[in-house]
Amino acid sequence: MKKRDVFFSLAVLMMSGALIAGCAGEGMMDKKMMGKKKMMKGGEDPAVTARKKLMRGIGADMKRLRTAMKQGSGWVVQEQVRQAAGDMYKKASKIKKAFQKNTLAGKTTSTTAIWKDKGKFNLIADGLAANAAVLAQIHYKGGPAAIKKAVGLIGRQCGACHKSFRKKKKR
Ligand code: HEC
Repeated sequence: MKKRDVFFSLAVLMMSGALIAGCAGEGMMDKKMMGKKKMMKGGEDPAVTARKKLMRGIGADMKRLRTAMKQGSGWVVQEQVRQAAGDMYKKASKIKKAFQKNTLAGKTTSTTAIWKDKGKFNLIADGLAANAAVLAQIHYKGGPAAIKKAVGLIGRQCGACHKSFRKKKKR
C-alpha cells in the first residue's frame, strides 16, 4: 500500500468508527430510559464482566464437588471430583490476571481493597489453585473423608477472599 492509500483507509476507518459510535450512543440513550440495571450492563467494563464470569464458573465447579460428595463413595464420585477439581484449578489459576485491572465500573461486588492489597489477594488465589490441584490428585486416596477435608479447605479459601475483598451486600 502507498502512504496515501494508507491515509485514505485510515480516514474511512475513522469515519465508520464515528458512525458506529453514534449508533452506540443512541443505544445508550435507549438503555438509560429502560432503567438503571440495563444501563449499568451497557456501561460495564469488560474486565468486570469477565472476572464475574470466571467466578461463576468457579462457583459451578464448587457445586459439582458438593454434588459429587453427596453421592458417597466409589470411582464415579472420585472421577467427578477429579474433573471438577481439575476444572477449578484451571480457573483459579486465572484469577490473578482477571483482577489485574483496577476497575469497579459496572455491577460489581469487588472492593478497592483488592488493588490496595494485591499481594494478599494473589496469595489466596494461588492457595485456591494449589488446593484444587491437590484435590484433583488425592481423589483416589483416603476416600470420602479425604475429599471432604480438601473441599472444606477450598471452601475456606473462597470465604477468606470474599470476606476481605468483596462487599457484604450486592448493590
Ligand atoms: C482470590 C480471591 C477470591 C477467591 C479465592 C474466590 N473468590 Fe469468588 N469472588 C471474588 C471477588 C473479588 C468477587 C467479586 C467479583 C466482582 O463482582 O467484581 C467474587 C465473586 C464471586 C461470585 C459472584 C460472581 C458474580 O456473578 O457476581 C461467585 C459465585 C464466587 N465468587 C464464587 C467463588 C467460589 C465458590 C470460590 C471458591 C471455590 C471463590 N469464589 C473464590 C474473589 C475470590
